[in-house]
Amino acid sequence: MKYTKEHIQSLNEQFANASPEELLQHFLGVYNDRIAVSSSLSIEDQTLTDMALKISKKARVFTLDTGRLFPETYQLIDKTNLRYDIKMEVFCPQTEALQNFVQTYGINPFYESLEKRHACCQVRKLEPLFRAFKTLDAWICGLRKSQSVTRTNMQKIEWDENHQILKINPLIDWTEEQTWAYIKANHVPYNKLHDKNYPSIGCEPCTRAVQPGEDIRSGRWWWEAPKHRECGLHSK
Ligand code: ADX
Ligand code: SF4
Repeated sequence: MKYTKEHIQSLNEQFANASPEELLQHFLGVYNDRIAVSSSLSIEDQTLTDMALKISKKARVFTLDTGRLFPETYQLIDKTNLRYDIKMEVFCPQTEALQNFVQTYGINPFYESLEKRHACCQVRKLEPLFRAFKTLDAWICGLRKSQSVTRTNMQKIEWDENHQILKINPLIDWTEEQTWAYIKANHVPYNKLHDKNYPSIGCEPCTRAVQPGEDIRSGRWWWEAPKHRECGLHSK
């Protein structure tokens, strides 16, 4: 189904005061197997996975395995599968495209320029995501406004005109504290790196620990200006 600007605005008004669970309940009911949680195994995504699977044991959860994730993240994929008795869907980069990329640019070209960094994210994250989109009419993300300057204008419900897909951000207004409170109260498994000063975790070469008091995404693509610190998954 295609959504107009007006339709999206009225949905956001309708669900302005809805809890994340109410929002999930509604959209899981509407889209069934054409909706999925998009999980990087962050505390936000683990929260949404827990909520979605409590609503429906059949709720889909997928992750983009860039091939460059931390060992702790791979361990958490296994742990989450075991805990909820699911098989998270894993989308990997296409072998030939990845091989061409590495052959052309090198194995770690992302530090050299923004263009090369984007090219790596394109082959390792975006192309697999667009393949995932072919099976979906809506995706559920763990974005929060307070995560970054790049996210303050995001809405709870958005329409991606380029990919013709609905995006649901149930935790958009949540704080980091609220998310941790949910994780702890519900004994949701989380990435062990969070206990080692890694508040936001992506690929290993592009993520580092932060100093006390630094902003939570300052360990992501730390060599770039804050306004560039997005991988393209959430640009329109
Ligand atoms: S990123 O775009 O800079 O990597 P971040 O790590 O904050 O974003 O994640 C924001 C949201 O994007 C997550 O809550 C999740 O919904 C989605 N996302 C990010 N990385 C992945 C991934 N590897 N697999 C699936 N979804 C992801
Ligand atoms: Fe490549 Fe880094 Fe992007 Fe991961 S985050 S896909 S390693 S540039």
